[in-house]
Amino acid sequence: MRIAQLFLASLALWLQVVQAATIPIDDDDFELRQLTEDNFRASVAQGLWLVEHYSPKCSHCRAFAPTWTRLAKDKRHLERLSGFHMAQVNCLAQGDLCNANGIKFYPQLVLYSNGQPLPAYSGDRSYDDLAKLIDDQSTLYARGQLLDSKAEQEVVSSGFGRPNPEGKVLEVDESGLEVLIGNGPVLVDFFAPWCAHCKKLRPLYEELAGSLKSKINVAAVDCEAHHSYCRKHNIQGYPTIRLFQHDSHTDYNGPRTVTKMKAFASKAIETVTLQTIKREDFDDIVESNDAFFLYLQNFDTALSDLEAVKSMLEPLRNSISAYTSSDPLLYQNLSIANPPPTSSLLAFSAPDRLPVGTLAFPASKDRLERFVNLHRFPTLSQLSASNHQEIMKSPTRAVVVLGAVHKGAEGEKERQKLEQIARAWKRGGRSFAQPVWFVWVDGERWSAWLRQAYGIKKKSLPAVVVIDPPLSEYYDTTIEGTSVEFDGSSVFSVLEGFYQHFLRPKRSETSLEWGSRSATMTLITLSQASMDHPILAFFSVVGSVAAFVLWLYRNMKKDPREGRELTGGSRLD
Ligand SMILES: *[C@@H]1O[C@H](CO)[C@@H](O)[C@H](O)[C@H]1NC(C)=O
Repeated sequence: MRIAQLFLASLALWLQVVQAATIPIDDDDFELRQLTEDNFRASVAQGLWLVEHYSPKCSHCRAFAPTWTRLAKDKRHLERLSGFHMAQVNCLAQGDLCNANGIKFYPQLVLYSNGQPLPAYSGDRSYDDLAKLIDDQSTLYARGQLLDSKAEQEVVSSGFGRPNPEGKVLEVDESGLEVLIGNGPVLVDFFAPWCAHCKKLRPLYEELAGSLKSKINVAAVDCEAHHSYCRKHNIQGYPTIRLFQHDSHTDYNGPRTVTKMKAFASKAIETVTLQTIKREDFDDIVESNDAFFLYLQNFDTALSDLEAVKSMLEPLRNSISAYTSSDPLLYQNLSIANPPPTSSLLAFSAPDRLPVGTLAFPASKDRLERFVNLHRFPTLSQLSASNHQEIMKSPTRAVVVLGAVHKGAEGEKERQKLEQIARAWKRGGRSFAQPVWFVWVDGERWSAWLRQAYGIKKKSLPAVVVIDPPLSEYYDTTIEGTSVEFDGSSVFSVLEGFYQHFLRPKRSETSLEWGSRSATMTLITLSQASMDHPILAFFSVVGSVAAFVLWLYRNMKKDPREGRELTGGSRLD
């Protein structure tokens, strides 16, 4: 019974994710917005507003009404996308307001940008002309204004303003420094008044502070006056120049020249977590990244969401790029402009221009973390020496789907198939507590290791197993009890069975575990080195094989550990 249910569930899951979703727009709650004396200023103060001043008595106004209503409906999505709004003022009821707005005739259209009227619109009042005006103006507004105002807002909201506004060294005590650290990167000189090197450093340090004006805070702590605080920070000698950033810090050990110290401090700001981009930057970004994140902001993005995204991506900033944008043209190019999503974090994997994953905000920290972990590698990556540690020894306890494929053109096709499966999983798979990462290896080259570690025979390529690295366990049977096949429903079935603790794992640790694993690493490294140094690589391979054989020989003579595979019982958890 249970098997059948699970099977159906995994099949349904598979089918469900290969279908595309459509979003219906409902029309019922639509209403034209009316402004009055009481709410006019406050409303138009933020965003781009097209306001029709009219009188119920005027016949031009009545003739124009259907056009206005249709525009308001059709352009409704721009409200969130670019902060464009439409509203009416009834001048018969709001005479003072219309006078104050300088209205001369009815209907008169006025466009307000953040409360300021733009030059009067003198064009035609046809649907097409107005639609074009709206599209052009709202795009302009959002591309320019929105990005800048967001950036401003960000700085202002930190409660501290721009860093280092005067370009000076700030003498701080314990609490002063904690405040600075909380506000962004800060460079600190821990000094003692009697230390000669400190005195020599000071004028240079002042100069450094000047050159980092508006960029990064520069502070100094007198360790004689704040002795215990410096001890708490484990200051070993004077002067100690330390860069605090987020939860970590780095000491500067280079030459004490302004240029070198500046380069050191600037690193902290150059690698911003979220780089702001526009539509025209996007193609290059797709081209140059195997995988990246894009945080799309819009008119009602909450600052707290932006901060949450930043702090989640911060620790990954050396391994995956992240960008942010509020450009409506980019939304349009991604085909998500109408209706626009709430602000959302998109995950991309080359060469696809469309996201492999989307997380809409508001989202809990937990969901955000899972999303980021799921997508921090390309949809399908090659397991190599450079990512082996990150993938197989990840603290996230990721589950790894390993595909072993043929060489050459055949292997290329198999990789594409595995990538499709991975994509389907990412787009619609069940969300596990652990991320699921898909990797591939050349099954012919690593056949010995694959047989040892996961029982994959060369003749059964292409093959796939689901690995639980922290437990050194793997799964190669589906919930129907058959061997896993190289296809979507089969892989989904194993994942589903794993998740439900329904399958019995196998141990990937044979008695040859150390040897095989390190041999693999050696070989993976060598395969890369051999491109550059074929002869050296050849001799090293001969050498390491000899060493491996010797190691094997010695281990055979010892009492080998008993069971190679877990044959009875089930998992402990
Ligand atoms: C987005 O941009 C790409 C490349 O610049 C182009 O090929 C594609 O047609 C655009 N898509 C839309 C919907 O604008």
